[in-house]
Amino acid sequence: MRELFDAELNLTDRPMTRAELEAAVSYADVLSPTITDEIDAELIARAGPQLKMIANFGAGVDHIDIEAAVGRGLIVTNTPGVLTEDTADLAMTLILAVSRRIVEGAQVMQEGRFEGWSPTWMTGRKLWGKRLGIVGMGRIGQALARRARAFGMQVHYHNRKPVSPMIAEELGATWWDDLDQMLARMDLISLNCPATRETHHLLSAERLARLRPEAILINTARGELIDEAALAEAVAQRRIAGVGLDVFEQEPKVHPGLVGHANVVLLPHLGSATIEARQDMGDRVIANIQTFANGHRPPDRVIPAMF
Ligand code: 8YV
Repeated sequence: MRELFDAELNLTDRPMTRAELEAAVSYADVLSPTITDEIDAELIARAGPQLKMIANFGAGVDHIDIEAAVGRGLIVTNTPGVLTEDTADLAMTLILAVSRRIVEGAQVMQEGRFEGWSPTWMTGRKLWGKRLGIVGMGRIGQALARRARAFGMQVHYHNRKPVSPMIAEELGATWWDDLDQMLARMDLISLNCPATRETHHLLSAERLARLRPEAILINTARGELIDEAALAEAVAQRRIAGVGLDVFEQEPKVHPGLVGHANVVLLPHLGSATIEARQDMGDRVIANIQTFANGHRPPDRVIPAMF
């Protein structure tokens, strides 16, 4: 970025403070934030007339007030696609880790508590033949569906509208228009939709109560999709068999009721945490800025209707 543009950045990877962000939007032409930067309407209103673009490093843009930005004539871009397979890998990793008690088993070994094999010890749940319900059948949802098929799982999904018949056939995926109906019949649920006003607490206390007691819930999308306090209660009351979370409602804080349970696997937002994905995300940011700087429409433009 510094070779191509007059770029300023934090070499320490420490998020900018609010004051630093306010200063930056008073003189920058382009702001390139990440998920840790809250780009709200107030900050956008404070921006100088020179600010033309917000080039987000990441696919999710729920930390940016898109309507306020577009309303002010700003171009907003993100970095979709380049992190799809890695994020789907992490969702599948959580599915395997929770269903086969991987973290527990690794802990037993690290703590020297393995006393030898026994027939009923540390038994998990089979995935072959099980029903996986994917909430949000975009790029990452579909990539997860391909992986789940390879593990012999039945793929079901809830989405605003069904995918094309060709994709549905390729994925052997069954669309559920009614999320409540789907939640009540799945062995595993994976959240792969964006965080928006409409999807806030999509998994509310009422919806969590619809899950089967032997169900496993996975979230690699955004913490705000789940009412985390209600989830902690469901875990405490053993109304859910397992939980795998890579994202949290008050990230990086985690609801204390979710910590310390063998059947709850927690990860620190590792979805796209591969060197390759992060480099590709950076390249997308550069491509978006260069295209815009050359007076063209950036490839990854975000418009309010998308979210
Ligand atoms: C990013 C993510 O690392 O892309 C997303 O939406 O959550 C992560 O892959 C993060 O957003 C960086 O800003």
